[in-house]
Amino acid sequence: MPMENIPQEPPVRSVAEETLIANLRNAHALEKQVIAVLKPQLGLLVDYPDLQAKITQHIAESRQQANRLQTALEACGSSTSMVKDALLSVMGLGQSSVQGFSSDAVLKAIVADMMTEHLEIATYRTLIVLAEMAGKSEICPALEASLQEEEAMAEWFSQNLEQLTRRYIELEAAKVLAAELAEQERARKREEMAAEKRSADADGVPRPNPAADPFSRGPSDPAPAPNASRESDAAGDVELKRPPTGVSGP
Ligand SMILES: [Fe+2]
Repeated sequence: MPMENIPQEPPVRSVAEETLIANLRNAHALEKQVIAVLKPQLGLLVDYPDLQAKITQHIAESRQQANRLQTALEACGSSTSMVKDALLSVMGLGQSSVQGFSSDAVLKAIVADMMTEHLEIATYRTLIVLAEMAGKSEICPALEASLQEEEAMAEWFSQNLEQLTRRYIELEAAKVLAAELAEQERARKREEMAAEKRSADADGVPRPNPAADPFSRGPSDPAPAPNASRESDAAGDVELKRPPTGVSGP
């Protein structure tokens, strides 16, 4: 090779540009993945209105960020079809954030979302360095705008993580209490019905089928047993006392 054809300097700029394009594609795919993960979370977060509102806002931001990345790719001479290919290649990047509907889905989603924000911060900071090294500084303002949005979201998580975790435990504890109260109520009803049956068996008086509705009697039902656990009035119109409906937490 003639001396004049040997590069005198490492091809920093071209290597940086190639790396920039690959990372812009991955970042675009990541934003799409983030949107796909965040949208189903909204239904899980009805008891966390602040977080639900923040996630709704960040889904809109993520769409804008994806658009910025697409514009940046086009500025680097990359096509939209190449973006789609990249999306397929990094599918699974955010799969750890998909929690389904397990009992601790909310807590897992909060942790995964916070982790994702830091992944995106690192991604945009890397892209800004690559853009500068590739001589593509014109795309830096858009990348900076997205970086600031990711940092704001990460900061919100940082400030609210303790409160969100405490709320999760309080809500779970309220569910446990409600389940215990419901079980106590079922046990009380079973005992009440058993006492009625024992009383009727002792009288020899036929009883209505308690399985139909243990708390009401039709007009043709027989008179109550004298010692049954019922309320009775002077007219003989008898109705079992209904337990309070529903169980509410503290
Ligand atoms: Fe994002």
